[in-house]
Amino acid sequence: MNPNHVVFFDTTLRDGEQSPGCSMTTQEKLTMAHALEDLGVDIIEAGFAMASEGDFAAIATITQAIRKPRIASLARAKAEDIEMAARSVQFADRARIHVFLASSDLHLEYKLKISRQEALDRTAESVRLARSFVDDIEFSPEDATRSDRDFLVEMVRVAIEAGATTINMPDTVGYTTPEEYGQMFREVRERIPAIDAQGIILSTHCHDDLGLAVANSLAAVSAGARQVECTINGIGERAGNAALEEIASAFYVRADRYGVSTDIQLEKLYPTSEVLGQIITFKPSPNKAIVGANAFAHESGIHQHGMLANPLCYEIMTPALVGVSKTHLVLGKHSGRAALRHRIEQLGYTISREELQQTYYRFVALADRKKNIYDQDLIGLLPETIRERRSEPVSELD
Ligand code: KIV
Ligand code: ZN
Repeated sequence: MNPNHVVFFDTTLRDGEQSPGCSMTTQEKLTMAHALEDLGVDIIEAGFAMASEGDFAAIATITQAIRKPRIASLARAKAEDIEMAARSVQFADRARIHVFLASSDLHLEYKLKISRQEALDRTAESVRLARSFVDDIEFSPEDATRSDRDFLVEMVRVAIEAGATTINMPDTVGYTTPEEYGQMFREVRERIPAIDAQGIILSTHCHDDLGLAVANSLAAVSAGARQVECTINGIGERAGNAALEEIASAFYVRADRYGVSTDIQLEKLYPTSEVLGQIITFKPSPNKAIVGANAFAHESGIHQHGMLANPLCYEIMTPALVGVSKTHLVLGKHSGRAALRHRIEQLGYTISREELQQTYYRFVALADRKKNIYDQDLIGLLPETIRERRSEPVSELD
C-alpha cells in the first residue's frame, strides 16, 4: 500500500445521523451510500447496529447494495453489540467492525463506572471477539484527547495485541488543538513500534466544538495518520464532525504541504452535499467552505474587479473543481462598476461609459435599500434607450 495514501472513512450515516434533525430512513441512507460510493470514499460507517432495528436494517441493506467501499458497523465493547454488528455486515464483500470504549478517567469513573484494569480487559476481550467475525477491526479509545497519555498508550497496545488493525483516536468533545493532536499521534506511534512494524493504520476523528475539527484532522495526518473520519457538510453530534469536503479540498489545494493521495473525486463534492441537503432537508450555512452558497460568490467591487481580471486573484480553486457550476458575482452595495457592466452585458445590453456612470448611481441607491438585487431590478434601472438596444442575453435572468 502507498504510504502516502489517506483513507476516507465517512461517518455521515452514523455520527452525522446523530445530529439533531438528521436522522434518515433506510431508503435515505441507501441513497446517501450510493452518493458516497460515487464520491470515492473508502469506508462507509453505515450505522450502530445495536441502536435500533432501523439502524440494523439500514446497515444490512447497504452491505448488499454497495460493493466498492468497505462497510463499517459500530459497536460498544460488549459481546451483544459486537455480535449484532457482525450480523449486520455478514453479507458485505468487505466488512469492518468498529469497537469503542472510553479511555478517559472521566468517562471510566462517571459514565462506565469501571476501573482502568477492567477497561483494558474489556478492550482485549471485545477486540478478540470482533476479530472472530471479521479480519478488519477498528478500535477507538473514546475521549482519547482527554485521557491520561500513559493509559491511552496502554489501551492502544492492548487493542493491537488483541487484533485491531486500525486505531482511531477520537477528539470526542472537540477539545484538542492542532499542535496537541499532532503531538499525540507522534507520541503514540513512537511508543508503540508495532504500529509501523505491523502496518496498523492510525485514524483521526474530530468534533468541531471549537471550530478546529478540520485543522486537527490535518495536523494528525501530518503526524502520520492515514485514515480520516469525517462527514458530508460536517454534520454530526453538537457542532458536528470534521467536514469531508474541506479535508479533501485542503489535500488537493495544499498538496505542497500534505503530499498525500486519496480516491475522492473532487468534482462530486458539491453534488454529494446537495444529495445530503435534500435528504435531511437543510443545507449547510451560506458561508460554509467549499459547499456553502457563498463559497464562490463575490460582492465587493475590489474583489469582483480582480475576479474579472483573473479569478486566481480571489479564488484558490475553481468552482468546477468541486462540482459547483460557476462563480457568482453578487450585485450589492459593495459592488463596483466593472461587475455592474459585466452583468448588464451578460443580460444582452450594450452600455456606454456615461450610461454606466448614471446607472451605477441609481444602482448604489437601490442597493442601499434592498438586500438582494435581481436581474429584473437591474433592467428596471436602465434608461429606455439602452433597453431598446438589447441583443440576445448571454445567460438566463435570475
Ligand atoms: O466521537 C467519538 O468518540 C465517536 C466514537 C464512537 C468513535 O464517535
Ligand atoms: Zn464522534
